[in-house]
Amino acid sequence: MKFFVDTADVAAIRELNDLGMVDGVTTNPSLILKSGRDILEVTKEICDIVEGPVSAEVVAAKAEDMIREGEHLVKIAPNITVKVPLTWDGLKACKVLSSQGHKVNVTLCFSAAQAILAAKAGATFISPFIGRLDDINFDGMELIAQIREIYDNYDFQTQILAASIRSVNHITDAARIGADVITAPPAVIKAMANHVLTDKGLEQFTADWAKTGQKIV
Ligand code: E4P
Repeated sequence: MKFFVDTADVAAIRELNDLGMVDGVTTNPSLILKSGRDILEVTKEICDIVEGPVSAEVVAAKAEDMIREGEHLVKIAPNITVKVPLTWDGLKACKVLSSQGHKVNVTLCFSAAQAILAAKAGATFISPFIGRLDDINFDGMELIAQIREIYDNYDFQTQILAASIRSVNHITDAARIGADVITAPPAVIKAMANHVLTDKGLEQFTADWAKTGQKIV
């Protein structure tokens, strides 16, 4: 399973990347806003840090404008993936950009039917949003399972990029289903290291070690 980091926070990306835990990065207009940075500038900086795909999202509504924006974004660095929304225009843009040899991430996917269309349009990645479905009492993880089943039935090569991840359980559940990639905020990735029994065990070992009066170095 590949790990993408869902952020435009360069310091957070750098920290995880130094640990070898970053296979790619996803950004979106909200994350760019949160970073307070210029999109072209911050995306370039991220591409210089991370070797894998870095998703940069178009903002136009019409296919021809999305294509124009996508063609501009790919000039930032060779590892740019153009992110387009799952609308009819987004699918048209996906088809053109992928035919030009660019990687395309089709985002804002909320149904298996949408995921089939993205695969047919040549998407490199499909981004089903787990958390936002859970938010409205739908089962986000069930969508990951449905897409996995359908893509496997027909050997679609589009990679399932489980997105809108809010918890550690989202990551492990998506991994069990066989999502190709997860993209999660840095805090959720770091939270994967936590376990109450690890903390409790360490507390005990530390206390017992102090009683031995020994030192390792
Ligand atoms: C995916 O590429 C999106 O950037 C992201 O996962 C959206 O997550 P959110 O629903 O927490 O905003």
